[in-house]
Amino acid sequence: MVNSFTYGLIRLLLLSVFAHNMLHVMAQWPNGGSTRYYDFKVQMLKVNKLCQTREIVTINQKYPGPVVYAQEDDRVIVKLKNETPYNATIHWHGVRQILSCWSDGPSYITQCPVQSGQTFTYEFTLVKQKGTLFWHAHFSWLRATVYGAIIIYPKKGVPYPFIHPYEEHTVILGEYWNRDLVELERIVTASGGGAPVADAYTINGHPGPNYNCSTNDVYKINVVPGKTYMLRLIGALLNMESFFTIANHKLTIVEADGEYTKPFTTDRVMLGPGHTLNVLVTADQKIGRYSMAMGPYMSAQNVAFQNISSIAYFQYIGATPNSVTLPAPLPKFNDNLAVKTVMDGLKSLEVANVPKEIETNLFFTIGLNVNKCGSKTPNKNCQGLNGGVMAASMNNNSFIRPNFSILRAYYEHVNRGFTMDFPGSPIRFYDFVNGAPNSAPNDTGSVNGTRTKVLEYGSRVQIILQDTGTVTTENHPIHLHGYSFYVVGYGNGNYNPQTAYFNLVDPPYMNTIGVPVGGWAAIRFVADNPGVWFMHCHLEIHLTWGLAVALVVKNGQGPMETLPHPPADMPRC
Ligand code: C2O
Repeated sequence: MVNSFTYGLIRLLLLSVFAHNMLHVMAQWPNGGSTRYYDFKVQMLKVNKLCQTREIVTINQKYPGPVVYAQEDDRVIVKLKNETPYNATIHWHGVRQILSCWSDGPSYITQCPVQSGQTFTYEFTLVKQKGTLFWHAHFSWLRATVYGAIIIYPKKGVPYPFIHPYEEHTVILGEYWNRDLVELERIVTASGGGAPVADAYTINGHPGPNYNCSTNDVYKINVVPGKTYMLRLIGALLNMESFFTIANHKLTIVEADGEYTKPFTTDRVMLGPGHTLNVLVTADQKIGRYSMAMGPYMSAQNVAFQNISSIAYFQYIGATPNSVTLPAPLPKFNDNLAVKTVMDGLKSLEVANVPKEIETNLFFTIGLNVNKCGSKTPNKNCQGLNGGVMAASMNNNSFIRPNFSILRAYYEHVNRGFTMDFPGSPIRFYDFVNGAPNSAPNDTGSVNGTRTKVLEYGSRVQIILQDTGTVTTENHPIHLHGYSFYVVGYGNGNYNPQTAYFNLVDPPYMNTIGVPVGGWAAIRFVADNPGVWFMHCHLEIHLTWGLAVALVVKNGQGPMETLPHPPADMPRC
């Protein structure tokens, strides 16, 4: 308390010193937001899970981490102190970071990591944002345990556009490894092969009774018969997508990725890593104990995954403690139709302000590659398919993470080894889904590089994301930093402008889009937030393999369209 109070005082002083500068910047932002201060200490925590004791990386020794609460238009200030031996950064997933790209968090894109013992303060305003988002580490694979909810309430006196729930609960879906995640990334990268499967799925950090030594390591919601609950579902998984369902109960989706949707009622939902969904559930069944279950959605061929589902309890008050738990039927792991059904149900609550004319038309293929083994010890280093090295790419470019901050280098006009030549479309068009298995006869091997795509300020952008079958088709959760985008269309097979159906009326406004397996999705947004914005597959292994690009959005005119100076405490690499 003393700390954050002192800190607040210092800020007040600073604010008055810079008052007339600040006023300028604040002018456009809606009035009335308060400022929320948080102290985030990156700390090790000893946990007993799955019959093992180990130390995991956390924020404030909480797992899942602390909730960031705020109201629409609030300013959020989080002082991060790294007390672990690892590097760390935090990304505020879904926060649009208007003119605050420096606080976005992806390491080597907008900042150097906060090294052991260092601090960095994140500052951003939740301009016109409300709903459920989340924060997570954005260094190596640390986000496996370093994550927590961001809950943004509507402004005072503004109700939800649906029945006010009796209670709200946050339900975070995760994956747990009995391993050091930074080391795991290193090992997997060095091997050239795939990632080992998680030791467990977790709901709010609990694997639940299906796993060894976990009978009591289970999350539970006690419900009053007849009441309606809102669950804030968060996909904080690392390398998997997942179904979620509650035995005998319907889920009504009312919000996706922090934006209201038309209510859509379903038996189950799918969350990829990076997705958030608010659902309403009414406790309208017989008094008893019902399972809330999460299990795998795996659309790729020949990829191993954890097949044991994680269970939590949706337990009616009045149920006897030992009552049998009613099982929740999860869809089959490859039930693509279940995924499509939910996607078809997502519509913006209101008529949306979708860009109609497009200045920047982009076409990005997304998929996996296998590159040639260049190692003298192929048994050790080339454990990908056919003795090759696994890779992933956009337009056959595998993104290589640099060892400096791209934003800083761009801002300071120093050439540090990134280029601005990311292609706006593939070099050649072919049957992306069925036509070209890896390497022949089309050139489908990936090229390594740190390439960025430059966008003019204010440009209305459309991106077609096209899945490829170069190695295997797969549903890829593609996330864009710094923006939400309208998902105006999607479909199976290769994108065909002649036959594609676009919804320009009420498409969902999202920050992560699960591009259908062997299909495509079309997104639109206006590039009106200057900075360097990472766009990548949110399956961490694919990001490691290079399924990413950085979008550079130029400054516009005047201070309201220009990225301010970097904060003074920006870490150095
Ligand atoms: Cu939620 Cu770049 O990530």
